[in-house]
Amino acid sequence: MFDFDELNFKIEKELDISAWERQVVDGIGFRFAGDNRLSIRSMALSDIPEIVEIEKLAFADPWTEESFLYDLLYPYKKLAITGLLRDNIVAYLLSVFIADELHLHNIAVHPEYQGQGIAKLMLWYMLSVAQYERVGVCHLEVRVSNQNAIELYKKFGFEILGQRRGYYQNNKEDALLMSKKIFNEWET
Ligand SMILES: CC(C)(COP(=O)(O)OP(=O)(O)OC[C@H]1O[C@@H](n2cnc3c(N)ncnc32)[C@H](O)[C@@H]1OP(=O)(O)O)[C@@H](O)C(=O)NCCC(=O)NCCS
Repeated sequence: MFDFDELNFKIEKELDISAWERQVVDGIGFRFAGDNRLSIRSMALSDIPEIVEIEKLAFADPWTEESFLYDLLYPYKKLAITGLLRDNIVAYLLSVFIADELHLHNIAVHPEYQGQGIAKLMLWYMLSVAQYERVGVCHLEVRVSNQNAIELYKKFGFEILGQRRGYYQNNKEDALLMSKKIFNEWET
């Protein structure tokens, strides 16, 4: 069982988020940036149409409904979460566990709600679960031109491990491979 009390403590300490609410159904609620409240819950199949609308606004080469369905239905362990403000979906994150690694496949925040700390909250949540699950390392790919995302990942301790040439199909842009060590069983 995930220890939400421990999570709450860490959030207050590391992100300076003032409080959280337990009563969110199938999820957890956070108060952030003053009195904004973000609920994070498991991504549901029924979220996909709304998520794809955000995807189209957030990316030049958006995932389709089929791409989300494939990742959600494929039988690997995953952490797929949806972020809601006042019951409206504003953010999502999809990551999969492969052996002792966690791969971040997708994260986005609706353009109207960017710059308020929502991605930090979503990423922090993912890393807390990764730590709890004793994931060894977390990997992701990001476009070399996506400076906002690169800064976000660096802020959370991700380091650039390499560059994949022509990784993105639409314009053959390179990807940076970024990784963060989470848990080393040989350390305390
Ligand atoms: C990248 C993205 C997820 C960030 O979401 P967000 O909610 O706006 O990010 P936050 O407000 O939590 O900001 C987190 C950090 O990201 C960086 N960042 C985000 N937006 C930024 C901007 N416009 N300029 C500079 N840095 C920015 C900063 O380091 C920021 O930390 P700070 O506020 O302490 O300076 C969002 O811009 C997005 O959805 N982009 C399109 C989809 C995408 O590129 N996803 C990543 C694919 S790898």
